[in-house]
Amino acid sequence: MIGIYFSGTGNTKYCLENFVALYDRNIEITPLEDTGTMEKVTYHKDIIFAYPIYYSNLPKIVRDFICENSDIWKGKRVFIIATMGLFSGDGAGVSARLFERYGAQVWGGLHLKMPDCICDVKALKCTPAQNKQIVIQAEERIKSAVCNLKNGTQLKTVWDFYAILQGGQRLWFYHKTQEYSNKIQIDTDACIKCGKCALVCPMNNLSLSKCKIVANGRCTLCYRCVNQCSEAITILGKQVIFQYSVYDFH
Ligand SMILES: Cc1cc2nc3c(=O)[nH]c(=O)nc-3n(C[C@H](O)[C@H](O)[C@H](O)COP(=O)(O)O)c2cc1C
Ligand code: SF4
Ligand code: SF4
Repeated sequence: MIGIYFSGTGNTKYCLENFVALYDRNIEITPLEDTGTMEKVTYHKDIIFAYPIYYSNLPKIVRDFICENSDIWKGKRVFIIATMGLFSGDGAGVSARLFERYGAQVWGGLHLKMPDCICDVKALKCTPAQNKQIVIQAEERIKSAVCNLKNGTQLKTVWDFYAILQGGQRLWFYHKTQEYSNKIQIDTDACIKCGKCALVCPMNNLSLSKCKIVANGRCTLCYRCVNQCSEAITILGKQVIFQYSVYDFH
């Protein structure tokens, strides 16, 4: 078995690490953007696949990863973990339907509410104590899911008919996750040219050119750069409000 994840700001990675620690410590986990991940997948039948929900949908980088490797999923067994700031309807169901279309068997899924990662928009912001509580609740849900899985209980109901109906809200935002974004704003006066943003970007969307950071219109909206930067980058908002990492609490 192998764990594959995409994580912009750490929530999803944290949840998968937690899941694996309880299920089987020997499972290797690997970020989907790493070269070599796909080759590793070919050697495993069982996959735990984890990602955050963006606009009740898959991040573009995650959708591309599944679709561009469509021939590899046939015969695989996939367990899905979807993390979210509030609500996604059938967030795990979105990839489940894709995997099934490409011949995989989806063996279960888990929705986990985690702290919101959009650090330049006020909505959904919680205090550190509230965030800690959210993480504790997610850990409880992981524990119970692992327990069920070990007992052979089906966890597929997370995308039953009712959840699919709720997931209908994604139609409203549909266009936002179908293309990569060029919405990054870089304040050149505030930028200290440290290059951190370019190093962490999973899309190689940022580069240091003629002593300034340039974005190339290939942003998957993961907020990794905004979270790492000294407040010179924004995407959906105009000002960084709260940079958060689940790893700071544990
Ligand atoms: C562009 C964007 C859109 C998001 N849309 C949703 C959403 O529709 N529903 C939701 O509950 N959370 C949404 N979130 C919050 C993330 O899903 C959540 O914080 C997630 O745990 C982040 O995981 P990560 O730290 O692994 O990147 C969104 C985050 C981003 C960056
Ligand atoms: S991380 Fe921020 S400060 Fe550093 S180079 Fe990138 S934009 Fe500039
Ligand atoms: S530019 Fe920033 S938000 Fe966009 S994909 Fe790269 S790291 Fe993520």
